[in-house]
Amino acid sequence: ESTTELDISALEPGQSIKAVFRKQPVFVRNLTQAEMDDANAVDVGDLRDPQTLAERTLAGSENILVVMGVCTHLGCVPLGAAEGEVKGEYGGYFCPCHGSHYDTAARIRKGPAPTNLEVPAYTISDSTLVIG
Ligand code: FES
Repeated sequence: ESTTELDISALEPGQSIKAVFRKQPVFVRNLTQAEMDDANAVDVGDLRDPQTLAERTLAGSENILVVMGVCTHLGCVPLGAAEGEVKGEYGGYFCPCHGSHYDTAARIRKGPAPTNLEVPAYTISDSTLVIG
């Protein structure tokens, strides 16, 4: 069992880190207040894969979103984790392979992907994020 450890002490709101977890890309983002507000304004019952932002983050660290950078359609790496990259129509991630749009909580909103980007198991303590 391998884990991925990241120092997130310098990760400001609106900044992201791309890392690798078990040979797959993982995206870590410190959400802005506006991104959290957008995520929380959605009627969860309207979602294809209904989950709140709170259900996808840790209590007390709801601003830190950790997701696998693997589209749940056919496994492409979505765009949106790098500075200036296209984020699609819902401000989160966009998979260019067949056009899946994920929102600021990385939930599928449009396109063929069946489920939200996967949230791996992780912990945060003293600005150290441990995935796995
Ligand atoms: Fe992402 Fe098909 S692999 S939309």
